[in-house]
Amino acid sequence: MILLTDKSKEKIEALIAKMTLEEKVGQLNQLSPSIVGGFDVPFEELIEMVTEGRISQDEFNQILSNAEMDYKEEDIRSGRISSFLLNNPQKANELQKIAVEESRLGIPLIFGFDIIHGHNTVFPIPLAEACSWDETLFKKTARVAAYEARRAGINWTFAPMLDISRDARWGRISESAGEDPYLASRYGLAKVKGYQVPDEENTAYIASCLKHFAAYGAAESGQDYNSVSLAESLLQNVYLKPFKGSVEAGAATVMASFNDINGIPCTSNQKLLRKTLKEDFGFEGFVVSDANAIRETIIHGYAHDGADAAVKAIKAGLDMDMGTSTYINQLPELVTSGKVSLSELDEAVRRILTIKMQLDLFDKPYVDESLMTEGPIVSDKNRKLALEAAEKSIVLLKNKGILPLSVDAKVALVGKLADMKSEVLGAWALAGKEKDCISIRDGFDALGVSYNYGECVGPTGDFDEATFRSLTEGIDTVVAVVGELSSMSGEASSRADISLPGQQEQMLKKAVELGKKVVVLLMNGRPMAIPWIKEHADAVVELWQLGIEHGNAAARVIYGYTNPTGKLCVTFPSMTGQCPRYYNHFSTGRPAGKGKFTSRYLDAPIEDLFPFGFGLSYTEYEYSDLRVQQTKDNIQVKVLLKNTGNRSGVETVQVYMRDCFASLVRPVKELVSFKKVFLESKEETQLSFQIPLEQLGFYDNDGNYLKEDGSFIFYVGGSSVDCLEEEIGVCF
Ligand code: GLC
Repeated sequence: MILLTDKSKEKIEALIAKMTLEEKVGQLNQLSPSIVGGFDVPFEELIEMVTEGRISQDEFNQILSNAEMDYKEEDIRSGRISSFLLNNPQKANELQKIAVEESRLGIPLIFGFDIIHGHNTVFPIPLAEACSWDETLFKKTARVAAYEARRAGINWTFAPMLDISRDARWGRISESAGEDPYLASRYGLAKVKGYQVPDEENTAYIASCLKHFAAYGAAESGQDYNSVSLAESLLQNVYLKPFKGSVEAGAATVMASFNDINGIPCTSNQKLLRKTLKEDFGFEGFVVSDANAIRETIIHGYAHDGADAAVKAIKAGLDMDMGTSTYINQLPELVTSGKVSLSELDEAVRRILTIKMQLDLFDKPYVDESLMTEGPIVSDKNRKLALEAAEKSIVLLKNKGILPLSVDAKVALVGKLADMKSEVLGAWALAGKEKDCISIRDGFDALGVSYNYGECVGPTGDFDEATFRSLTEGIDTVVAVVGELSSMSGEASSRADISLPGQQEQMLKKAVELGKKVVVLLMNGRPMAIPWIKEHADAVVELWQLGIEHGNAAARVIYGYTNPTGKLCVTFPSMTGQCPRYYNHFSTGRPAGKGKFTSRYLDAPIEDLFPFGFGLSYTEYEYSDLRVQQTKDNIQVKVLLKNTGNRSGVETVQVYMRDCFASLVRPVKELVSFKKVFLESKEETQLSFQIPLEQLGFYDNDGNYLKEDGSFIFYVGGSSVDCLEEEIGVCF
């Protein structure tokens, strides 16, 4: 984004001074395809069709992006519309021309769209990419998304999604960077810079949108849109942490979330938006509601009608109304009657005009449509990055010496997901095209390996045992691709049972019964409770939904061309009933243990199925010689790391801490730093981490940030378990 000069600030003030009340309110109005209208079939029926596989994800995306919006050109000409949700460069220029050349003040429109993990070049879902722990990669994929967005006439993306997600039942965990505030903070910072900061190679930039503000991931029982009850300290120390850093990095916009927190919808939550976000965090951009959320404050039972909804939202600091026309219909009268002050309205207008100015829309409002036809929509260079991102997002969860496979091995590749191209895109890949996708079967073909293929079973439908038996006759290794359809995670897609859907496990059990070696490749948008697979498979590889290069990345890892480096950014529970499940929990007075009277389940193991930060490699690493000391402003952590295996690899070294006693109980572990290190076989290196003392503090329930002297334990390792540890006394 371009810097705001005094001259441009003066231009904004001069513009506000000229604007009529109607034109000011118009700047707060965003149009989006009516999610209940504008389609040939009702939206809910569309969802059923894609969930049941009657239409592909690709067809669903196409219908969504073609949905016509109900607007009148006169509304643009009279300045009643500020923004559209749109992915169509020609249409964008057509609408922009009316706004800029035919309206009284020529204020440009801003075009927003959901570019959550790539636009034309679809990268791994965020939950997968976060497992790369690669901040450079996070930024690089956002830079490509910014270029492809601008080329499509889009200058604002509704990303990064920074909702801390501790409950695997919640479908939107797939869009998140997982359960840890520090990793999500680093992810958010990299994404904001990737979207907003041009560079020599790629001058494109778009406005980012931190979402969903706030604590949407804490929805009770993992049900989407559900209520959130949260102590102030938990809100500040966990859920707001990723947003704070990204606001300080200059994030342009923030999206308020659908949920209420302690009974007040975030859309109209003055303490959250005006106090915490705008005053305490110093946020200078604008806040947009989530789709229809202003109107939904009536359904929440918080506003009693449209006028009340408008008053409560604008006074709370909600600047732009996405899709309900509540502001445009109610605010003129509310300002005239004095229920909403002109200064409250002007503040929202100023914030919105400032972002439009920083996007240079006043001087360059149009998109160069020729960019859409210049070269392939998905360039070779961007496809190469998609492969890199996909490979780095893969997590090797188990390997009883069977991987990597030899390219000469005769295997049976089974599972419908192995051949479902558009399923590699995952949720929120609205511009993704099936024709650009590489399935696992395509990836095997690209390597030229020999295999028998048969669908046998998918996430829905019956297991075809006869085909499975004939297909695997005389073959001792089965590569089974199982998991979820993309439509089983994402928005409005929570699951009350996070085990493997359908009859897929029956196929795996049959393979084991027939004495086959089983390599399980998981394609899913959330952690799954798969204890049987962990116990009986010979290898388990978490692929998630890796985007267009899914199949090539999977094949290259399975056959050893690439050494897997991913580490889990979420915890895998053994059973659904354990959700929410996360590593950075409090101790309790009776930590889960072997004793009866401890915080544990009678019918589930104490350990996580797969812990946060965990991921295997085709080589091994050894940690030794941990040294921790306090310096003037930091905690210095040093450790020796050796690659003791027979091939090179990249290890993600993680540093955790525990504040042993404090005026509020603190987590048993908290990630405070990490580094990715490449080591040749038998190579050894000493690593040093500097953790600012400031980072050891925490918020209490009165919003005070406390740093208390006392004992801290520091842990270092390749996951949140199996760490070296050292306890030191810290004085602030
Ligand atoms: C959706 C989502 C939000 C998205 C918005 C616009 O309901 O909650 O993440 O950005 O609407 O599509």
